[in-house]
Parts: sequence; structure tokens; C-alpha cells
Amino acid sequence: VKLADLSTPALLIDADSLEHNLATMAAVLPGSRLRPHVKAHKCTSLASAQRAHGHRAFTCATPREVIGMVAAGLGDDLLLANEVLDPQRLAAMAALQDRAVITIAVDSHETIDAAALAGLKYALVDVNVGLPRCGCKPSDAGHLADYARSRGLVVRGVMGYEGHLMAVPDRTEQRAKVAESVEKLIVASLLVGGDIISAGGTGTYDLHDQVTEIQAGSYALMDTHYGGRGHPFQQACFVLATVISSNSEYAVGDAGLKTQGMDHGNPSIEGATVRFLSDEHVTFVPSAQIAVGERVRLIPAHIDPTMAMHEVAWLIRGDDVIDRWPIDLRNW
Ligand SMILES: Cc1ncc(COP(=O)(O)O)c(C=O)c1O
Repeated sequence: VKLADLSTPALLIDADSLEHNLATMAAVLPGSRLRPHVKAHKCTSLASAQRAHGHRAFTCATPREVIGMVAAGLGDDLLLANEVLDPQRLAAMAALQDRAVITIAVDSHETIDAAALAGLKYALVDVNVGLPRCGCKPSDAGHLADYARSRGLVVRGVMGYEGHLMAVPDRTEQRAKVAESVEKLIVASLLVGGDIISAGGTGTYDLHDQVTEIQAGSYALMDTHYGGRGHPFQQACFVLATVISSNSEYAVGDAGLKTQGMDHGNPSIEGATVRFLSDEHVTFVPSAQIAVGERVRLIPAHIDPTMAMHEVAWLIRGDDVIDRWPIDLRNW
């Protein structure tokens, strides 16, 4: 199959750029130093490629991701880096523990009770290191760990995601702020015990020397939010569109905001200026008039929600489509 044969809009993954990204990251953070976050791609074929690069432990954001990873035989060591209260989904994960090691993040008595009641075995105390999202105060982490142990859970350590620091433009400032956030995590770790200190993402993967593992995900496919910040990763994911209307002022492609995450702004098109996206259209100004029927590649601004909007990704090399990867970890 050729690229030209694909119906559009179509989600593309460039096989060589993906390989470059996986190899580059595995060289810096080999094996268990990286716990790749599957929420960035929601694709067990891609997770298998990460495993082929030596990573056997993965981070997940939803029960669906955990359950799908186990079904794909990738359940060696799964961290659900998120709080869950739903008894049915917790029980569905607990039922897989004869085939998988599943560890869940907890930051309250309620989340600990829910995990214990469902029969989950392992927990990690989630610590707020500055991002106003989940996570307990560092000073509360020890009490929560004691409570979790009293409920029969094995507490494996701590996690703390410094999401608010991923895009600090100045590297020196970013390094200092990451060090501050890690201090909080280390304090919590001393109170909690266990042997895991999990943190980090694509924007900070090379700024940590005190944690045991990094949870980066976007590095595999990249987006314009992370691109151009000096990271050694290549753009590997695109949304292919067909030009369905064109005039002397602008052109219109058939990939709109239902094909990609827009919370980080418009996508980019090489050699063109994107004006806006509507439901099913992208309006852009090409550097020279473009013919109806031509194809353009949109570079998404935010990879994670983009992946979640597609049922399949087409793995490509040059003009050839070399594989079809189901995005099989979608939904919750
Ligand atoms: C808990 C957690 N860990 C790690 C990440 C890292 O992701 P990324 O590689 O996109 O920076 C995220 C992304 O939002 C996250 O929510």
C-alpha cells in the first residue's frame, strides 16, 4: 500500500523517526530507568517497540490502558499513575494480578480504601510537587503509606509529576525548578520507604539524577509543543489531509479539530501558515498555490489527545505504508 492510497484524514507514524526517538531515549535512560507513559500513544504495537528497546515497565493513565497492556502481554510492571475510585474498574484490574504486576497511585484515604477493597496489591504514594493536580502534601506521604500498609497494600515508593515544568524555556531555570520539585519528592520518599521514586516527562527526562525512573511518553512521537525546544527527538507523527478546496488566498484540507488535540494551539504545516481549524477543515496559506487533490501533513500541537481521536495509525517509510497499528488503548 502506498501513502497515496490512504483515505484521509489519516494518522501517520514515520517508522524511522519513531525508531530514532526510541533508540535515542533508550541510550540515555536504558531499561528500567525509563517507564514509558503509554497515554501518549495508546497503542500496544508501539509499546511493544518500546519493550524491544529494553523497557519492561510502563506507566498508564487509565484502567483501560492497564487492562489493554496486560491483554497484549505487556503487564510485567504497570504503574497506573492516576487516582481511581471506580470499584468496577479497580476490580477488573485486580482480576489480572495473576498475570501482571499492577501498582496504583494513591493520594488519600479514599483512594487507598478503594484500591484495598478491590483487592489490588501494590500502591505508590502520589505526591504533589507543584502541579495543581493529584498528589498529597509531601509531609502527608508517610501517614498515607502507613495507612495503605495497614490496609494490606504493599507500598512500592512515591511518584510526583512536575508537569508544570515541562516547557520552562530557559534550561538553567528549568533545571533549578526541577531540583526544587524533586526535593519534595525525596522528602516524601524518606517518609514512605519503598524503592521507587518515579517522576519526569519528555521536557525534563535529562534533568533528573535523584529519581529511580522517568515517566516520559511524548518523546516517541513528539508534537509542536515539545518540538523546537532542543530535545534530540524527531517529529514522528502526522495527520495526513487532502486539499479539498483551493484559491489564490488560501487552501482547505480535510483534517479538522476532530483529528487532533487543539489545547496547545493550531497544528503546523511545513511551508504553510495554518489560519484555523474547524470541525472537519484546516484552512491554511501555502507558500505557493496548491492544487485540489494534493496532500499535506499536519504536525499536531499535542500528541496525546491526537492519538486518542484515531482508531488506527499507519506506519510509513517514505511513500510506503508498512503496517497498520490499532490505537487499542483508547477510552477509560
Ligand atoms: C503522570 C504523568 N507522568 C508523566 C507524563 C509525561 O508525559 P510527557 O512525556 O508527555 O511529558 C505525564 C504527561 O502528562 C503525566 O501525566
